[in-house]
Amino acid sequence: MKNVVKLLSFNTFIPVFYPALMLPIKPWRTKAIKMLDFHTGDRVIVPGVGTGHDLSDLPKDVRIDGVDISDVMLGIGKLKLKLFGMDKSVTLNKMDAEKLSFDDNTFDKAILSLFLTVVFDAKKAFAEIARVVKPGGQILVFDHLFRTGNVPTILAKPLDAVLSYSFSSVTRVLDDIIEGHPVTVEKTVKGDPVGFIKGYLLVKH
Ligand SMILES: C[S@@+](CC[C@H](N)C(=O)[O-])C[C@H]1O[C@@H](n2cnc3c(N)ncnc32)[C@H](O)[C@@H]1O
Repeated sequence: MKNVVKLLSFNTFIPVFYPALMLPIKPWRTKAIKMLDFHTGDRVIVPGVGTGHDLSDLPKDVRIDGVDISDVMLGIGKLKLKLFGMDKSVTLNKMDAEKLSFDDNTFDKAILSLFLTVVFDAKKAFAEIARVVKPGGQILVFDHLFRTGNVPTILAKPLDAVLSYSFSSVTRVLDDIIEGHPVTVEKTVKGDPVGFIKGYLLVKH
């Protein structure tokens, strides 16, 4: 996040309008999460967990660590966990996802929803995920990322100049972010009615 404007946005007005923004894509998010093959006792990391929109789609018998740097997003998330009785299986940590304080090969799954387009250094954040996920582990990326060669430069570049500073980048490329890590993209699904957002299932070797 590494700029005051973005940190302020995620601690002030974004938490207010965010639920309304997320509601229409909920069924697509649920479908994307279904690509993950959960087992009892799995450890799951959710970097940039925000207010916890992914959490209600996860099984009750896994152990979840959410990570975020916004006090307000985490505060709302904690309230929701209590309301939905999920506070036993989920720990919400105030932590910079670019510098995770978890050991290598700790997690069986990672869920990165609308996070790689928001975090300041997506490559650094992904390197941390690749480090803490076990070999054979699955990583779900649910985001509006492009694949190499597909970025619509005419519209996206000027938009990005404004949006990336205060909210979210609209020109990031998944292949650039994951380059050099032992992961492969196994499956892709639509993440909204028009396909701007996609769900990518990655596996670490
Ligand atoms: C667009 S929200 C997505 C929230 C949630 N994953 C979802 O899908 O609804 C992005 C979240 O990433 C968090 N974030 C940004 N940079 C971060 C960082 N370096 N470490 C941890 N969280 C970060 C923001 O505070 C925000 O809550």
